[in-house]
Amino acid sequence: MQWVQSEDGSYTAFSAEYNEHYHSTKDGALNESLKKHIEPAFLCHKGKTDLKIIDICFGLGWNTLATLYYRDTYFPTTTLEIYSPELDGALVASLIDFPYPEWFAPYKDIIKSLSKKGEYNDDRTSILVDITDARMAMQTLRGAWDVCYQDAFSPASNPLLWTREYFADITRLMGEVGIVTTYSTALATRLALYENGFTLYLNEGQGYRSATVASHRELEGFKRVDMEHKIRCNPNAVSLRDS
Ligand SMILES: C[S@@+](CC[C@H](N)C(=O)[O-])C[C@H]1O[C@@H](n2cnc3c(N)ncnc32)[C@H](O)[C@@H]1O
Repeated sequence: MQWVQSEDGSYTAFSAEYNEHYHSTKDGALNESLKKHIEPAFLCHKGKTDLKIIDICFGLGWNTLATLYYRDTYFPTTTLEIYSPELDGALVASLIDFPYPEWFAPYKDIIKSLSKKGEYNDDRTSILVDITDARMAMQTLRGAWDVCYQDAFSPASNPLLWTREYFADITRLMGEVGIVTTYSTALATRLALYENGFTLYLNEGQGYRSATVASHRELEGFKRVDMEHKIRCNPNAVSLRDS
């Protein structure tokens, strides 16, 4: 695996199998993680002192580790439970040598534990990196979760993690207050979420390409995407389906 430096200075990697980088090299791995996933997650659950997060898929661990960093910096009393399915066990095992930034220096033991045992627990933090197929995992996982970081490879290269049926499983796990964060703004992705009853919001700001937040409840701080209008303008657009 070849590490690649992205534009914010943080490192990502290129997958020859999926012919895709693990992160947007332009937005930056750390920046993308913070802006598209972590900040919306904490904003939408302001005041909540325990967060249960599904991190699809663990990959290089940026989303999970940046969540710890953000919690420790701004909400140190919040407890975190993170469940992260990931197919590539060898990748997770190799992360002990990954060039993370200085910010993550306090997490050295956590990174070691995740790469060796796939789990870490203390009184504020519980993380499980499950070496399994996310699709299957979402069918068997139970409970009500607050956030799903939907961060698979793109719909074009990993379509099974973006179908209407896949999001039906995510819907069940998100309950009434859970939110889905994703870098994808593709209409097919938004349709798959919309057809599962989600309202779509635009996550936009300086220094990163626009992203999406999906929720069953009304969200403050994000502009609502007018899906009825988009469907009228694109009558042939369809969500991805398992078939
Ligand atoms: C875009 S990367 C994830 C980046 C990661 N969220 C991070 O913060 O570094 C996509 C990951 O999905 C994994 N993957 C692909 N298909 C999968 C599946 N069906 N189940 C679980 N993981 C999968 C790949 O091995 C890869 O590590």
